Amino acid sequence: MNIIKLNAIDSTNAYLKDLAFKGNVKNYTVVVAKEQTNGRGQMGTMWQSEGGKNLTFSVLVCFDEFLVSNQFYLSMAVALAVKDAISYYTNTKITIKWPNDILSDTQKVSGVLIENRLVEDKIKDTVIGIGINVNQEKFQTFEREATSLKLIIKKEVNLEDLLHRVLADLKHYISFLEEGRFLFLKKMYLNSLYKYNTPCMFMHTKNNEFFLAKIVDVENGGKLLLELENETFRKFDLKQIKFAK
Ligand code: BTN
Repeated sequence: MNIIKLNAIDSTNAYLKDLAFKGNVKNYTVVVAKEQTNGRGQMGTMWQSEGGKNLTFSVLVCFDEFLVSNQFYLSMAVALAVKDAISYYTNTKITIKWPNDILSDTQKVSGVLIENRLVEDKIKDTVIGIGINVNQEKFQTFEREATSLKLIIKKEVNLEDLLHRVLADLKHYISFLEEGRFLFLKKMYLNSLYKYNTPCMFMHTKNNEFFLAKIVDVENGGKLLLELENETFRKFDLKQIKFAK
């Protein structure tokens, strides 16, 4: 695996995308930075991380035949890999909050930003950006409270060891994608999903109204299928709803 280590960069995703755009970057090239000055999160948010204390890295993965219509399986594979790597260090239950945040109880310990490059109806390659709160001890309060592995296990964690664990797990789960074992991935994803099959409160983002519902499935494209209180079913994408907690 080709690992490029940087002291500081705006965003490892932006850097690796640029490198890939210029051509000839090997599959599983990794860019890891001690510090990001403009770390990016999902839906145009920022990813803040104290320099030198956490993992912020991106991985380029190339595909031969991966249909865009199956793109959410990539998200599942990445979330499962990060969840497994973090779970190695703790007995605390680690879950995946749809689509791919990693939680310890209700607190966020890791986030993922996947940026695909398409050719027609296929994903040609993807930059998988992963931020894990590892040894940071103080966090600002964002929409969701954050925590770190150190706060969970009360011990410092070696960043290099954790990085190699995530990369090994990523290869493992991506091999399921390459073998087309989508249903198997989905079963594992749903089993690890925060509030799966459990009534909980959501909020409509357009009017901030709350509603009670239960997650029953996730579609190939990533939409969440909810069973509402009146026993009807509705699909939502990431822009439409939020968990209330
Ligand atoms: C989120 O939860 O909103 C996604 C956060 C993703 C952060 C990682 S850190 C490494 C990579 N580079 C970035 O700029 N973002 C991702």
